[in-house]
Amino acid sequence: MHGSILTCMEEMALAEMGQPKWQQALGLSGLPAKTKMFPHKAVEDAVFFKLLDNVCQVSGLGLEAVAERFGQYWMRFAAKHYFAFFMSYRDARSFLLGMPSVHKLVTQRMPGATPPRFSFEERADGGLAMGYHSERGLQPLWKGLIRAVGQHFGERLETRELDASTMLIHFRGKLA
Ligand code: HEM
Repeated sequence: MHGSILTCMEEMALAEMGQPKWQQALGLSGLPAKTKMFPHKAVEDAVFFKLLDNVCQVSGLGLEAVAERFGQYWMRFAAKHYFAFFMSYRDARSFLLGMPSVHKLVTQRMPGATPPRFSFEERADGGLAMGYHSERGLQPLWKGLIRAVGQHFGERLETRELDASTMLIHFRGKLA
C-alpha cells in the first residue's frame, strides 16, 4: 500500500488515540514502537491490514468508525499533499468522478501498484451509482471516504447501498 495512506493513518491514530496506543498498535502488528511512516515509502498490504485491525482493537472503535474518521483525516491530508487535484474539481460529484484518474496518476511510479478502481453509472434522476473494485475489499474505507468528500465540499450527500460494492449517491446541494 502506498505510504501516504499509512502516513495519514499514523496522523489519525496519534491525534485520536495518542502515542502510547499507536505504539501499542504498532507492537501488536509486529513493528518497532519507533516506526515512522513516510508518504514515499510503500508498506506491504499484510502490514497495512494488521495495523488497521490493531488500530480498531486498541482504540476500541469498530472498523466502520475508524473508516469514518480516516475519511475525514484523508481529505485534509490529501488537500495538503495533493492540492493540485483539489483545484481541478469544483464539487463532490466531479471530485468522485475524477478518482479513477487520480488513483492511476498517484500510483503510476509505484512498482506493482494495485490502486482501487471505480466505475460509475449516471442515473436519470441525477443520482450517481459508484462501484468500488479492489481485491483488498476495503469497502468500509471507501464508504467513509464518500461521506468525507461530501463534508469537504460542504454538500449534503444521500447514500444508499445497492450492493456491497455499489453506492447510489444523490447530491442534494450545499449545506446551509
Ligand atoms: C485526492 C484524493 C485522493 C488521493 C490522492 C488518493 C490516493 C490514494 C492512494 C495513493 C492510495 C493507495 C493505493 C495503493 O497503494 O494501491 C489510495 C487508496 C484508496 N483510496 Fe484513494 N485517494 C484519494 C481519494 C479517494 C476517495 C475520494 C476515495 C473513495 C471515494 C478513495 C478510495 C480509496 C480506497 C478505498 C483505497 C484503499 C485501497 C484499496 O481499496 O485497494 N480515495 N488512495
